Amino acid sequence: MADLEAIQKKLDKILKKERYAHTLGVMYTAGALAMCHGEDIETAMTAGLLHDCGKLSPVEKQMEMCRKYQISLTETEFMIPALIHAKLGAYLAEEKYNIHDKRILDAILYHTTGKPNMNLLEKIIYLADYIEPGRKMIPGLPEVRKLSFTDIDRAVCRCSELTLGFLERMGRTIDPMTRQTYEYYR
Ligand SMILES: [Fe+2]
Ligand SMILES: [Fe+2]
Repeated sequence: MADLEAIQKKLDKILKKERYAHTLGVMYTAGALAMCHGEDIETAMTAGLLHDCGKLSPVEKQMEMCRKYQISLTETEFMIPALIHAKLGAYLAEEKYNIHDKRILDAILYHTTGKPNMNLLEKIIYLADYIEPGRKMIPGLPEVRKLSFTDIDRAVCRCSELTLGFLERMGRTIDPMTRQTYEYYR
């Protein structure tokens, strides 16, 4: 069983203040969603706590660590550096935080893009990241917050739709998986 307090202490040291606050928000939101949908609460809280453990600042540091640990990055990941922390995070969760539950590692790996046919834990972390209480209010957020507790698949659909819309408006490069998540849940 993971020692949540010990992990919190480590993360408090390596993450920026806002990132750490977000991390706690995701941990507790994941716990609440687990209660609601019948997922193991501690598993969800562990995944929530560690979901951004690879989000070291600046992003060059993430790339440097990927080189150090020989984590190969795809062309898409070089084009969209925001994706790197998920892959690095899954690696660090296993190697540095001693998490060997594949479900937790996958939930960390897919939290940014989602993926088609996610398991319950993956959906919970994907949504908790989006809806945690510290998130800035944007149109659609109250709806996703409510749906996350009432109709989780619909929540994933709306969340991926909003994410896609945001990325398109910002003119950002979009990972094919982000689009596949939306297509699947639509
Ligand atoms: Fe993240
Ligand atoms: Fe996050």
